[in-house]
Amino acid sequence: MTGPSLLISAAIPGWEPGMVPRGFDCTITEQGVMEGSEFLANAFDKDVIACFLANKITDEFMQSHPRLKMVANIAVGFDNVDVSAATRRGILVSNTPGVLDAATADLAFALLLSAARRIPQARQYFLEGKWKSFSLDFFTGSDVFGKTLGIVGLGRIGQAMAARAGGFSMPILYTQRRPASPEVEQRLRARYVSLDQLLAQSDFVSLHCPLTEETKGLIDAACFEKMKTSAYLINTARGAIVNQCDLVAALRANRIGGAALDVFEKEPCVPPADLAMLSNVVLVPHIGSATIDTRKAMARLALSAVSSAFAGVQPPNLVNPEVWPVFRDRLSAAEC
Ligand code: GLV
Repeated sequence: MTGPSLLISAAIPGWEPGMVPRGFDCTITEQGVMEGSEFLANAFDKDVIACFLANKITDEFMQSHPRLKMVANIAVGFDNVDVSAATRRGILVSNTPGVLDAATADLAFALLLSAARRIPQARQYFLEGKWKSFSLDFFTGSDVFGKTLGIVGLGRIGQAMAARAGGFSMPILYTQRRPASPEVEQRLRARYVSLDQLLAQSDFVSLHCPLTEETKGLIDAACFEKMKTSAYLINTARGAIVNQCDLVAALRANRIGGAALDVFEKEPCVPPADLAMLSNVVLVPHIGSATIDTRKAMARLALSAVSSAFAGVQPPNLVNPEVWPVFRDRLSAAEC
């Protein structure tokens, strides 16, 4: 009897065959992410899919893949998976929290510095051979040291961002549904405020909340009106948290100082033309967790959830732990 079937739809940097969970019949793509009809065909008879953000695991997909028992998303965000449909269908969903906090916060802080000090714009100017003279206002940007950082969502990644800002003596404001613990607030010297206060008082606003029905379009024209005209928006969370049209309008009108974006409303994409033509934006293509070590750690965590679940031990990183008893019953009925 063969073991459970597993599709790993994304090539993993530093992949070693030893990473396949023992006893699984595994199919892995060698390059990029398997998408479209290739993904559908390969996923068809699988018990488990370990996938990446490009794979949309919709209710319809689950309905047409009746063997599916687990989706191990190789990402911390899981807005590419219809979790309530998975829960209704008794399909486990796991994600990869924790292991990408540092890499994502590093990127967010790098974007903050790049935007404030206009590094991409200065590079472009220099490479185009335009540097002919000095002047006191040549590529002047904004100070970072001592400026106020507003964090929307002080979860793991938001906390890692705050820790980095501590090295730059930046006062930290944060907002989220409920205040963090006093221990977290003290360690990070972070002050809980309303979103309006955060927008009004911050020099840099960095988004670290998940994309949910509640946060979709959270940052819109009304928010840009409340921000300082010198303030920057940094987004390494999800594009749809920001109303991109409103952002473009705010940037065009110099309503805010600038923006640095790793994520966009639709991905993958060519740089949105209305953003790319602006001089006060920094754009990178969703590379928040893209370091070799982090991507390896994410894959390992996803696959360890798979092997643990099929060995009958509840993985800690389930997004819908309420499905666990159903899954365990299906497992002990030896369906796979
Ligand atoms: C990346 O965006 C992730 O959610 O892991």
